[in-house]
Amino acid sequence: MTRVAFVTGGTRGIGRAISARLRAAGYKVAAGYASNEVAAQACADELGVMAVKGNVSSFLDCAEAVKKVEAELGPIDTLVNNAGITRDAVLHRMTEEQWSEVIRVNLASIFNMTRNVIEGMRERNFGRIVNISSINGQKGQVGQSNYSAAKAGMIGFTKALAQENAKKGITVNAIAPGYVDTEMVHAVPQNVLEQIIAGIPVGRLGMADEIARCVAFLAAEEAGFITGSTLTVNGGQYITG
Ligand code: CAA
Repeated sequence: MTRVAFVTGGTRGIGRAISARLRAAGYKVAAGYASNEVAAQACADELGVMAVKGNVSSFLDCAEAVKKVEAELGPIDTLVNNAGITRDAVLHRMTEEQWSEVIRVNLASIFNMTRNVIEGMRERNFGRIVNISSINGQKGQVGQSNYSAAKAGMIGFTKALAQENAKKGITVNAIAPGYVDTEMVHAVPQNVLEQIIAGIPVGRLGMADEIARCVAFLAAEEAGFITGSTLTVNGGQYITG
């Protein structure tokens, strides 16, 4: 049976690699995006996915996007909450806007998206939800109290939702990527990034597809016994229990 996946922030960075992986695995894929039309069009053309515009921090946008996708591709059984932004600043210089934008886009968004698909998944007794958290939600990062709080929040959400839906054939897991070779990571000041890479035992940044293959693994039907977990993928930079 053809599965339908919705990948938020699915047209660029790690999200694009996830869209590509799932498409190659035979899924029908909807890739959400906020504003970059050029990247969205390229992604749709090159990968053969449906690009869907919307702001994940708006509950109404998410409801509409889900409706559009379900009308065109069918019921969503795989949701990848990947969309995220950074607004890095030490807290003593952080503005209220930098704080709340990150909390809205990275954390409130997972309620907005998941709430709009969870009832359908429960009715059909099947679902796969994968939340893209971060190493910095696990260990904290100077300059990212907003981002670290949101990413840690995603892990708590994952654990609670996994328990609520375990009997309904729905698994809910998180992935905590380390520093991956994307535009987001290249926005870190060069000298800071060099120091960060020096602290990665594997000796390099991760590749987006190295995260995408973990999503495909957790989304597979055979992964039904894995739920509530956080898969750490960071080149050994932070080793958790
Ligand atoms: N411990 C405590 N405080 C520290 C510190 C440390 N190790 N290193 C720096 N600081 C604080 C200092 O207190 C200093 O504040 P004061 O000047 O008030 O004393 C401040 O940081 C440094 O100030 P600067 O003027 O040198 O730097 P800045 O304010 O312009 O920028 C920064 C600071 C925002 C933290 C910047 O260094 C930065 O962007 N760092 C990278 C943060 C990062 O790793 N982001 C990840 C983005 S990628 C991503 O998020 C993807 C993912 O999931 C991994």
